[in-house]
Amino acid sequence: MGALAHATEISGAENADACASADVVVLTVPFEAHAETLKQLKPSFRPGQILVDTTVPLAASVGGRPTRVLGVWQGSAAQQAAELAPEGVAVVAAFHNVSSELLNGDSPIDCDVIVCSDDKEAAAKIRELARKIPGVRALDGGKLENARIVEQITALLIGLNIRHKGHSGIRITGLPAAAYEK
Ligand SMILES: NC(=O)c1ccc[n+]([C@@H]2O[C@H](COP(=O)([O-])OP(=O)(O)OC[C@H]3O[C@@H](n4cnc5c(N)ncnc54)[C@H](OP(=O)(O)O)[C@@H]3O)[C@@H](O)[C@H]2O)c1
Repeated sequence: MGALAHATEISGAENADACASADVVVLTVPFEAHAETLKQLKPSFRPGQILVDTTVPLAASVGGRPTRVLGVWQGSAAQQAAELAPEGVAVVAAFHNVSSELLNGDSPIDCDVIVCSDDKEAAAKIRELARKIPGVRALDGGKLENARIVEQITALLIGLNIRHKGHSGIRITGLPAAAYEK
């Protein structure tokens, strides 16, 4: 269990119930289940909720390589989510570059989280949430369309992990300290 788990209450529920009862819904299914899951959950969403999409459309979803991403018609998995989510639900793309291996550990996470969304208020809330993870710095990555770039970085990280046998992440340098605080 990761460091956060010690200070967090965790309970389980069916997807529809979990979705209906949450202000922030985090979608963490493989890309092959992305559209179907969102279609199933559509009646459970309500206006004002934030949908955090972490999905990387890896080619592995269709039997291809985990070091390649699929072309998504909408531009990215996050933009596909925005198309499928009901009106009034703010889609925020985040956490794509954070390895689950590191999240499950007890050490601070050596990775920045780039947050992309067309809803500035929702994006700010998710940056605040990301900063609760020890070691994580969260950055405003601009509009949701930039999720395409952030998603693709993960395919590169997976390739690096395979080649060098590690759990890589990203750090963005050269920005003023305020960029990591707002
Ligand atoms: N793993 C990482 O380090 C990492 C990092 C950044 C982003 N991501 C993204 O996060 C998402 C989840 O990654 P993961 O490694 O956690 O994947 P995973 O372990 O393969 O799947 C996560 C959960 O998705 C559900 N699921 C799997 N296939 C499904 C299907 N066909 N229909 C409905 N639900 C299904 C399963 O829930 P149940 O067990 O309840 O059935 C499973 O536990 C992916 O889109 C990935 O690109 C992962």
